[in-house]
Amino acid sequence: MKIIIGPASLGLGGRICSLLGLEKINIYTKEFPDGEVYVRLLGDVKDVDALIIQSLSPPQDRNLMILLQLIAAFKANGGKNAFVIIPYMAYARQDRVFLPGENASAYLIAKMIEAAGADHVALIEPHSEHATQGFRNKVVIDVTRSFAKYYLENGFKGAYVVAPDKNAATRARRLAEMIDGGFGWVEKIRDKETGGISSSEGELNPSGRKTILIDDIISTGGTIIEAMKLLKAKGASHISVACVHGLFVGDAYDKIKSAGASIILSSDTVESQYSNISVAEEVVRTLREKNWL
Ligand code: R5P
Repeated sequence: MKIIIGPASLGLGGRICSLLGLEKINIYTKEFPDGEVYVRLLGDVKDVDALIIQSLSPPQDRNLMILLQLIAAFKANGGKNAFVIIPYMAYARQDRVFLPGENASAYLIAKMIEAAGADHVALIEPHSEHATQGFRNKVVIDVTRSFAKYYLENGFKGAYVVAPDKNAATRARRLAEMIDGGFGWVEKIRDKETGGISSSEGELNPSGRKTILIDDIISTGGTIIEAMKLLKAKGASHISVACVHGLFVGDAYDKIKSAGASIILSSDTVESQYSNISVAEEVVRTLREKNWL
């Protein structure tokens, strides 16, 4: 097994490569004057299996095109099995048709990646199970333990864990169990036409407790900030915010800080100045369990 690390996952890919002691195939990418992207593998892949890791973090379309070309180049040069790791799966929130005239983009992404030549795909906490339906051979990697480790080491044992949306409740409950804490959730209502958010109390009892608000994605920060308002109104003392995939569009990070978050955690599935938790160990553990390695 060798490893090919795309430019959107240099940090996480490098950490996985070190943990596994794999040989890395270097790559070369460049942008043509008209904006197209060129990708070339610089090592021999003939008759080998490879892990190919590339996040679909922003710029999503560019990173998707690089991933497709990495997979296709691996196959075109005699590579055997392509084990593709997608740390952040873009387009996954449109996991079904909500309004007439739409397309389920998550399914399209899966089919493109398979068409490029992916034999097996591992997704780190994709937005929903439904979003992964287009992949035939898939592994879903739960990285809650990476967050639990941080919280246990930093005085949050027994904290109250809240999901800012009922759909995110399973992750919050898992974290609560790992840190021996309580669990609650906020009811989020999103307008399908405008995308506007409002929140109402779901199941909440944070009064006087250290609170962790955890979601899969933070994009504009709107969901988290709405939930923080409710938590503060209900008397939460000290709110930490966490997400697996921190997109932090525009000034989202600063807005969440200004809203009163004490600590903001986000993982290296989306690599940025804000990613401060690595999920490399959980990725390696799961891939071993699933016999990828
Ligand atoms: C949506 O269903 C996701 O789970 C996140 O809650 C959402 O993407 C967060 O977006 P924003 O930060 O823009 O509210």
